[in-house]
Amino acid sequence: MLKSSKSLHNNISEENTLYRPQIHFTPKSKWMNDPNGMFYLNGTYHLFYQYYPDGNVWGPMHWGHATTNDFIHWEEHDIALFPDELGYIFSGSAIVDYHNTSGLGDGNTIPVIAIFTYHDPEKEKNGEEEYQTQGIAFSLDEGFTWKKYEGNPVLPNPGLKDFRDPKVVWDEERNSWLMVLSTYAKTLFYRSKNLIDWKYLSSFGKDLGAHGGVWECPDFFQLQVNGIGEKKWVLLQSINPGGPNGGSGTQYFIGDFDGVEFVIDSEFQKQLDRYGAIWLDYGRDNYAGVTWSNVPEEDGRRLFIGWMSNWNYADKVPTYQWRGAMTIPRELSLKRVESKGYSLQSLPVKELIDNSDLIYELNEPLRTKTFDISKDEFADGISFKIELEDLSDNVYTFSWSNNKGDSLEFGLDAISNTFFIDRSKAGNTNFSNQFLIEKLTYKLEKEVQGLSLEVVIDKTSIEIFVNEGEHVFTEIFFPKYKMTNMSLFAKKELTIKSLKTYKIKSYV
Ligand code: FRU
Repeated sequence: MLKSSKSLHNNISEENTLYRPQIHFTPKSKWMNDPNGMFYLNGTYHLFYQYYPDGNVWGPMHWGHATTNDFIHWEEHDIALFPDELGYIFSGSAIVDYHNTSGLGDGNTIPVIAIFTYHDPEKEKNGEEEYQTQGIAFSLDEGFTWKKYEGNPVLPNPGLKDFRDPKVVWDEERNSWLMVLSTYAKTLFYRSKNLIDWKYLSSFGKDLGAHGGVWECPDFFQLQVNGIGEKKWVLLQSINPGGPNGGSGTQYFIGDFDGVEFVIDSEFQKQLDRYGAIWLDYGRDNYAGVTWSNVPEEDGRRLFIGWMSNWNYADKVPTYQWRGAMTIPRELSLKRVESKGYSLQSLPVKELIDNSDLIYELNEPLRTKTFDISKDEFADGISFKIELEDLSDNVYTFSWSNNKGDSLEFGLDAISNTFFIDRSKAGNTNFSNQFLIEKLTYKLEKEVQGLSLEVVIDKTSIEIFVNEGEHVFTEIFFPKYKMTNMSLFAKKELTIKSLKTYKIKSYV
């Protein structure tokens, strides 16, 4: 049966014009959720994703496939993995097996191995608990066509109802593969020499972080602190519900890994004691994100992408031809701040600016109360970087709007030291009563003297990176009419120290 709800728009082209993002990946048609199996090989970044090709709501899961060379142009390919008698193909990861540790290579080409969860809907229906197992598939043509391994599942279910979303990483120090996967309220760690035989190591998460829902889609990687010297391990752990603003969200943990157990850093523990959980993104629409494998050492970046939606309303958002978009790919880095300890920063990949046209640059600092950052001609998408100074006793409101009454507002209330986003007047909000429109507020730890923002807007999404990516907010919205103006209003005069505005080109 085709599970589709009907379009409110008169035609597909109207929906595309108003809502189809220009540089963010969306499938040409039908339903998409989590990013899966991302790897880099020979100049190409591969992205797979949870995909239901027969409907615009969630259904039997496949892995869709797209590639990019620059994170801006995306090319969609044939479906990579189809459900089979072991079940639907849920989320997972992929790695490049250079040394053919799996033995699945043919001696001529480098095998790429996908590790994913099989979800058996029959077992689930019959009330059995052990309906999720881990399977693998391999590709001998750099990820375009795949064969499932005959001995699947490689990791049977150990008696856990939720047992899914394996992320495999190479453990350089111990010359073997590590797998993290999520169960109801924990991350499980496994190790393997050949990607086929897995040994259980440990579990993580008891009494740590947020536990308001099911843990899903973990990722685990090492980063150098401040780009030099000391290395720490980072665990990303999505959770739904129980996110920071209702529904889905991704928390993270920083610590050390001794080859068996992941132990939280003592300074990071203090942050947890204070805030309960630390989130990768404090907006409502960045979920199940993970990072690319095999990014070359010369590049050295840890690159992330998330699903730009929230399970609370993902299947109701008012696009009908397709449903679901990814975030802008982001570079993650680890910073140590004296007063607080380690923190994970995210910024848009540099390719975004490299592929956008600079349309305005402020030549010298400006004292003002209001400023038009862009007008009509830049409609549909804009990105800008702005630095503000003299922030005391003032409220700075940015507004992305049209002259028909739609406006998305965000900014900083420096009186209460609160960052805010308000999508309540940004257009169509009544497609789901779960589409939360209360003003989102986020209290900054300390008074800020200056504020730097990098903002990316692409028709239906806003991604705000505050102070070099220290705080991130990702939200989706659905204007009734094309948005045309970006402006800044302040209660009192302020100094705009610098501003660069870019036009996002359309690539769809
Ligand atoms: C997260 C998730 C995963 C699962 C997939 C199913 O959004 O629930 O845990 O593998 O989606 O599509």
